[in-house]
Amino acid sequence: MNRVHEYTKGVRERAQAGGGGLCAVFLCTPLEFFDKTCYTVYTDDFCGRGRAPHGDAMDINKYTPKFKTAQKHLLHLADLTAEEIFEILYTAKLFKKKYRVGENAPVLKGKTVALLFGNASTRTRVSFEMGIRQLGGDYIFLPKNETQLARGESIKDTAVMLGRYGLAALVLRAFPDEQVIEFSEWSEVPVINGISDRSHPLQVLADLFTVWEVKGRLDDLKLAYIGDGNNVANSLIMGCSKVNMDVAIASPHGYSPDREVVERGMQYGNVLITDDVAAAVRGADVVYTDVFISMNDEDDERKKQKLARYRVTPEVMALAKEDAVFMHCMPARRGEEVAAEVIDGPQSIVYDQAENRLHLNKAVLAMLA
Ligand code: CP
Repeated sequence: MNRVHEYTKGVRERAQAGGGGLCAVFLCTPLEFFDKTCYTVYTDDFCGRGRAPHGDAMDINKYTPKFKTAQKHLLHLADLTAEEIFEILYTAKLFKKKYRVGENAPVLKGKTVALLFGNASTRTRVSFEMGIRQLGGDYIFLPKNETQLARGESIKDTAVMLGRYGLAALVLRAFPDEQVIEFSEWSEVPVINGISDRSHPLQVLADLFTVWEVKGRLDDLKLAYIGDGNNVANSLIMGCSKVNMDVAIASPHGYSPDREVVERGMQYGNVLITDDVAAAVRGADVVYTDVFISMNDEDDERKKQKLARYRVTPEVMALAKEDAVFMHCMPARRGEEVAAEVIDGPQSIVYDQAENRLHLNKAVLAMLA
């Protein structure tokens, strides 16, 4: 038992004895407890401040959608309420239903969306390009390194100027989070975060949509993420906790998700951060992983070694519920973060997940552009 386990155990005992909530104490804990290399948080028995209220309001199946949002931009899931997430998922469901019968609402007719991408992409690019076409719109694909941004032009000048050309929305891919926010501050048109250093909101919205489709509900499910505490892990914490899904992240010391995101997620739901794969996966309805080394990161041998115990194998899947599904945002490396028997096996829903990027992106564009 490490120091933080001891600490949280003491807090839990005090909380159980009526001495205050874990979350409240956690938030005023000295910084040393949150050293990214060593912290573990238990909220499973915390039910005071912060836990989102259970009940019809948080059950997507009892929610009545209006198919609209008050949001101007889509930057991070932290900005959305559970209801706003439900609105997007219901809209994606509608678009998927239409797509399946060969129908498409031309809601982007006469509109053009700019796709300003800073790195390579298959799913994000194709799902946006096809989605925009299917909605009757047009797009401009702008590789960042072919714009003046690559030669030092400011975010302000780029954002203000792009807004003057009549674009309906601007999708950013692979920008630092600070720059995504700066774009949104200057842009007259909606800015959509197609992945940033710390966040992959569209991916996780598509993932929640996929879980809802496959499991028939979201609340009271448990998702276990195994591996690098990267942008996908951060967004899973935020997305799951907002919709009342429990989320457990198993990462080696030094590769935990962002402390700020964990703290925020704990305000909404049950978040477990651990270095123990079995503790995370036990009882999970969904087991999720991502590549060991994210795009644009150095091919880091030390990191790969530390992550070697964090693979999703058939043995790991056996620890989850019998009807658990396997998810991966892709691209995947069989034999590294996931065994081929798992990703190509009967529990895998990775291609549904990838397809749903299309329907989800269409929903977001229809609501914002
Ligand atoms: N998951 C994802 O963002 O895929 P791409 O990198 O292919 O866009």
